[in-house]
Amino acid sequence: MSIGIKGRLAIEISMDKKNTIELVKPHSRYQASFMAAFNELTTDSDRISWIYMGEAGYKVFFNMSFADYVNTLLISESTPSAHFVKDTTYWAVKDDEVVGRISLRHELNEFLAKIGGHIGYIVAQSHRQQGFAGDMLQRLLATPKAKDIGKLLLTCDENNVASEKTITKNGGIFESLISAGPGKGNKKRFWINV
Ligand SMILES: CC(C)(COP(=O)(O)OP(=O)(O)OC[C@H]1O[C@@H](n2cnc3c(N)ncnc32)[C@H](O)[C@@H]1OP(=O)(O)O)[C@@H](O)C(=O)NCCC(=O)NCCS
Repeated sequence: MSIGIKGRLAIEISMDKKNTIELVKPHSRYQASFMAAFNELTTDSDRISWIYMGEAGYKVFFNMSFADYVNTLLISESTPSAHFVKDTTYWAVKDDEVVGRISLRHELNEFLAKIGGHIGYIVAQSHRQQGFAGDMLQRLLATPKAKDIGKLLLTCDENNVASEKTITKNGGIFESLISAGPGKGNKKRFWINV
């Protein structure tokens, strides 16, 4: 059976849409999918990373309303929490559901300059291995703030193959392997020029 040009076009557009994400600022309207993704994460470190308020903030998260949590992320662009630098957090949304989180730190403090870098990201467990991390990073690097910073430090655990590939396919140039501290393994450091 021939599907014709119009049919083919519709299939191509729908396939394209299926794998398309957009980066949006945090908003309460995404609470259900954000929390569903949180609940399916399997490790504490992933859950802490998903919430993105640090280990101390992670405990506070459970005692605040979702609207207050969203506001904490949003105001971090101008008024970060103690010991944090200003940053911009985006949620990656596909079909109106949150599938990832990516954050851009506007500057580096001593810890970030060595271990943390400018950018942190995580993809929801059931949405991994579909190219979303690379897509999120590519879109973040195209934002005015990333271009303004110009030279961005990205780091990953020595054995985090998926994150390393995400960085290198977005132009990351390996700089060095450093110790993350006693018992914390090694970090690979990369630079991306935008
Ligand atoms: C790292 C992470 C963000 C990757 O997200 P993802 O959306 O699954 O990554 P992608 O689908 O874009 O895959 C990127 C590459 O890694 C590969 N990859 C993905 N998962 C992998 C795995 N578990 N083992 C080996 N390779 C893997 C993919 O095949 C792809 O390779 P390619 O570019 O050669 O095709 C995700 O695994 C995650 O959220 N991990 C926990 C948090 C984390 O580690 N964040 C990064 C901190 S530096």
